[in-house]
Amino acid sequence: MNPLHDSIRAIFWKEDGLYLLDQRKLPQQKTQLHLTSAMAVAAAIRDMVVRGAPAIGITAAYGVVTSALEHQSLSFDACKQRVIEDIAVLAESRPTAINLFWALDKMTSCLESVHSNQHDLIQALLQQARLIHEEDIAANYKMGEYGASLLPADAAAVLTHCNAGALATGGYGTALGVIRSAYRAAKIKQVFADETRPWMQGARLTAWELVEDEIPVTLLCEGAAASLMAQGKVSWVIVGSDRIAANGDVANKIGTYSLAILARHHGVKFMVAAPTSTIDMHTATGNDIPIEQRDVEEVLGCGSERIAADGATAWNPAFDVTPAGLVDAIVTEKGVIEKPDIDKMKMHMSL
Ligand code: MRU
Repeated sequence: MNPLHDSIRAIFWKEDGLYLLDQRKLPQQKTQLHLTSAMAVAAAIRDMVVRGAPAIGITAAYGVVTSALEHQSLSFDACKQRVIEDIAVLAESRPTAINLFWALDKMTSCLESVHSNQHDLIQALLQQARLIHEEDIAANYKMGEYGASLLPADAAAVLTHCNAGALATGGYGTALGVIRSAYRAAKIKQVFADETRPWMQGARLTAWELVEDEIPVTLLCEGAAASLMAQGKVSWVIVGSDRIAANGDVANKIGTYSLAILARHHGVKFMVAAPTSTIDMHTATGNDIPIEQRDVEEVLGCGSERIAADGATAWNPAFDVTPAGLVDAIVTEKGVIEKPDIDKMKMHMSL
């Protein structure tokens, strides 16, 4: 029995460095990677050992700590300079999730505030990284409450896309946090999850998380979502986000936009759960969000196996943008923005 449905964590700081659950290997293998340099942390983010916007930000923050530890034998100024260079490398790891840049900005401010010695610098950076991690989990619990409160008592079943769960955050999850809270409140009985080509975050990660936490999950190919909605089987789509623009446009895993269009067509509500660290008021609209293009091999094959006909090429954007007009609610740790627009976004961010 798992009464809280909240048992998964993927990021651990220990005395000897950072440990990440290797998400490329789930669900077949539960292995942890031990990382002790910013270069290794940047590679882990780039190679999808850790993924999901808030988790990328938290991991990068700990990556800055590993950098200070690695360079502590240098003079104080030289150590700081090397950490600044490593922060630039970490910032190059993935382009879309704003949480990465948000976390690195916080770590940079922290670095700039220390003028004493390497020991104080390491302690200050570690404290800041831990705070980012703890506050993310706390934000997810708040979002869980706000998001679940939007669902009717008989929501019965919801649909989610990609993995916006404990694995994608410090813990509990954004979209899956709402789902965990709503399941605990007996508002939903069933979760449908898109398998999410090409990385299969739905099939490998969301399904694993929900099974581990004893929440019933049914997988479907993305192409089956329209039929699911046409049959009236879901009342809400609940997703996370990698970056929300100032006007409420939402970047999330490729395929989210299609779901939003389908949801509107079928009278299904569409919720985005994301902490305010995912909201980028400096990016005016979704058109201004940089969309990561990934290796075509991810689409031409499945895992390491080639599927596509020889000679075919592929288009592989990792994210798409859902216009604010298709979003019924954005849920953050501060509350709910219904039918988001620029004025509501500004008001929310000033709370
Ligand atoms: O490519 P990924 O796996 O990093 O993409 C993750 C997503 O799109 C998630 O939905 C998003 O980061 C929100 S995570 C709480």
